[in-house]
Amino acid sequence: NGAVVCVSQLLLVCSVAPSVIQLQADCSSDVTLPCPGINTNFRSVTWYKLGNSSVGIVRHSAGQTRPYNFSRTASFGEEYGLFLPRIRPEDSGMYECAIGANVGGKNSNSKINLTVEECVSQVYLTAVTDTPGVTNANLTCSLTVKDLPVMWSIVGYLVLGLGKIILSLISAGVVRVIQINRSRRKQRRW
Ligand SMILES: *[C@@H]1O[C@H](CO)[C@@H](O)[C@H](O)[C@H]1NC(C)=O
Ligand SMILES: *[C@@H]1O[C@H](CO)[C@@H](O)[C@H](O)[C@H]1NC(C)=O
Ligand SMILES: *[C@@H]1O[C@H](CO)[C@@H](O)[C@H](O)[C@H]1NC(C)=O
Ligand SMILES: *[C@@H]1O[C@H](CO)[C@@H](O)[C@H](O)[C@H]1NC(C)=O
Repeated sequence: NGAVVCVSQLLLVCSVAPSVIQLQADCSSDVTLPCPGINTNFRSVTWYKLGNSSVGIVRHSAGQTRPYNFSRTASFGEEYGLFLPRIRPEDSGMYECAIGANVGGKNSNSKINLTVEECVSQVYLTAVTDTPGVTNANLTCSLTVKDLPVMWSIVGYLVLGLGKIILSLISAGVVRVIQINRSRRKQRRW
């Protein structure tokens, strides 16, 4: 099943794994996911988005195209590819093109893993909304002040604990040295 199908529009990476086609595309671009192995001799073509549960997107069968109740605008593109206008990062995921063959033919399924890059403009917008100023600043300040003694006591406990561990290690070592000395003395006596 190693057919290499590349979509010319706006795709940065296009490689083929044994059964999953990996596609990477820019945010806001229009993309057509390929349906490999399509020819004229089919009974139906159905596009799905795979997730926790698979959902139908569009289906073409008996000369009719039927859209499912999918969560975004999508339609058939060239060669029964899946046309997704203005893609967003939420559109990332695994898609499946299922070809139902006519009698004597063979059904085929292809998976396409679409990755949509973070939108630069969106990042900028969230950065702006994330700076409301005074209230937030005060909140974080009072939080740090409150957290400080707790943190110090934790550090104190840690230091104490470490000290105890080191002490016990040292004393264990001393005991062992003493024992060794004793046994040596015993041996010398014999
Ligand atoms: C898929 O399931 C996981 C865990 O059950 C859930 O956290 C996640 O939101 C689900 N994803 C979708 C797209 O429903
Ligand atoms: C399509 O989905 C919307 C919400 O996702 C829902 O309100 C509507 O009833 C659905 N329509 C059909 C025909 O299932
Ligand atoms: C889909 O693509 C993403 C990003 O390239 C990758 O992390 C993920 O492992 C891929 N999933 C599969 C099933 O190939
Ligand atoms: C934030 O701090 C300013 C001065 O430091 C103070 O006047 C204001 O009341 C504080 N706001 C809140 C919500 O604590």
